[in-house]
Amino acid sequence: MMGILRAGLNGIGIVACALAISSATAQPLPYQSPHETLGTVTCASSLCHGAIKLWKDSPVLQNEYVTWSRTDKHTRAYNVLLNDRSKKIAQNLGLKQPAHEAAICLDCHAHNIPKERRGERFKLADGIVCESCHGPAEKWIKPHVNPVSDPAAHHATNIEQGLYDTADATSRARLCLSCHFGNKDKLVTHRIMGAGHPRMSFELDTFTEIAPKHFVVDKDYSERKKVWEGVKTWAVGQALAVQDTMDILVDEKRGRDGLFPELVLFDCHACHHAMSDGRWKPKTAFGPSISPGLVRLNDSNMLMLRALANAVDPALGEKVREQVLKLHRAVAGEGNARTEAMALKKLAGEVVPVIAKAEFAAPLVRKVLAGLIDDGIAGHYSDYAAAEQATLAMSSVGAFLGKQGAMRSTANFNAGLKKLNTLLINDERYQPQQFVGQLKDLRTKID
Ligand code: HEC
Ligand code: HEC
Ligand code: HEC
Ligand code: HEC
Repeated sequence: MMGILRAGLNGIGIVACALAISSATAQPLPYQSPHETLGTVTCASSLCHGAIKLWKDSPVLQNEYVTWSRTDKHTRAYNVLLNDRSKKIAQNLGLKQPAHEAAICLDCHAHNIPKERRGERFKLADGIVCESCHGPAEKWIKPHVNPVSDPAAHHATNIEQGLYDTADATSRARLCLSCHFGNKDKLVTHRIMGAGHPRMSFELDTFTEIAPKHFVVDKDYSERKKVWEGVKTWAVGQALAVQDTMDILVDEKRGRDGLFPELVLFDCHACHHAMSDGRWKPKTAFGPSISPGLVRLNDSNMLMLRALANAVDPALGEKVREQVLKLHRAVAGEGNARTEAMALKKLAGEVVPVIAKAEFAAPLVRKVLAGLIDDGIAGHYSDYAAAEQATLAMSSVGAFLGKQGAMRSTANFNAGLKKLNTLLINDERYQPQQFVGQLKDLRTKID
């Protein structure tokens, strides 16, 4: 992975607050919204979000534009399409246009909305802009600066006017995953990967942490918005990633690569590793393996989903295990893949409200962490993708325990995590046995 270990486990203490699950009717994602996008300059004035210094009497920082334009990689997402790597990808794919004009690239590297929804000051070259995440501002730009007596109600009104609810973990997961994982509308396919696109690696809580912060979760924030603990953000991110995978898996529009289904959903290292490794094992975390010599789905998010469902409600964890096993079998030819994929999608949807309702106190979170490590020691992270997701999860879960003061030594734990990360630097050199050894060591550091 890309060295995405967090700096450390100390964050600001957050007062836990009531967690209600978002309504079943999901907001359209910013690019799907019928409203007009006004453009970054609309947000950037020094009186609005373009201040160099923080404003003392404002609940928000007001220097968001400065943070975004100077340090956030999203600013250069469009420019990346002009570099040599992108030129090569476009050439290898035989695209008719250059990368920076091709929808297949722009859909994730810019705010590529239909022309009629672009305001006068909109610029495609601005990359991933405020409104790509916060929603087109046509309707909310005026009311969102109105004087406020009830901050929470004010925020709710803005959302009704099309402000995207980035504070809600489920909505945020859908948003970030739409580009960092893909959805029915856009995907980095195996062909795009084969043409030279980097491998995608994402975990919601970690990426929220490592993106340059233009917001602070403090007391007044929690009066305006509900605060999702990092572990919950992680958990919801996993459930939604499983749902997205199932949607893409059964999507007929995605078609096939020759005789094969979309390979990007499968474990890369089922195909891309030296044969002398002999990695096939008769057992997986979900039960007996499918036959050797077959391609397997990348089940790393499913492993995480099972680990956390297990901790919250063992019966639910067992249901997840059984359903993933059925899906693996069906994809290998024993059963109907579509039926099993949709059943898993439904089950992942059932896990979300359970997570939202659960009290993520230290004992439960420690159970999640121990479960993740024990799964690994049992040899269930023989795939690189699983080891990577598990490490991201452990850092998210460990950060929570560290903040709660529920870890004997965060420094020891951090050092252990760092060693795990070292073993993940190169996906092609990943050695499952070394990883297990390191996990055994980490296991001694969590009490
Ligand atoms: C589903 C969304 C998606 C699509 C489609 C997509 N990309 Fe990307 N691309 C990303 C994301 C997300 C990253 C960043 C990955 C990371 O760092 O985790 C990225 C990274 C890159 C990078 C590396 C950037 C760097 O900083 O080194 C290049 C180059 C690139 N993409 C080019 C392209 C081209 C060319 C196309 C069209 C053929 C394309 N991408 C299509 C989402 C997408
Ligand atoms: C990649 C997505 C993304 C982009 C791009 C982005 N933001 Fe945000 N923004 C977030 C997330 C996530 C949060 C935290 C959750 C929340 O409070 O809604 C946030 C929070 C905020 C907040 C709320 C702070 C608070 O205390 O309530 C403001 C204001 C803000 N962003 C302004 C901006 C502005 C202005 C830009 C453009 C210069 C921008 N954002 C670009 C994702 C993004
Ligand atoms: C419209 C598509 C899109 C959305 C939505 C989006 N991203 Fe990104 N993100 C990208 C692309 C493309 C890049 C790569 C830019 C580059 O490398 O220059 C990127 C880069 C990043 C990086 C830097 C990764 C690295 O390798 O250093 C982080 C962190 C990140 N995004 C977090 C988030 C989070 C958190 C959200 C949701 C709040 C989000 N992104 C939403 C497309 C998106
Ligand atoms: C079913 C087996 C299979 C799976 C699963 C698979 N690939 Fe591939 N991959 C291939 C084959 C076959 C090729 C073409 C090799 C060739 O042209 O010699 C290829 C080519 C590539 C290439 C281009 C390499 C080159 O030398 O041209 C990249 C990069 C790549 N795959 C990445 C991935 C990633 C990332 C994943 C997982 C998300 C993945 N693959 C999953 C079989 C697979």
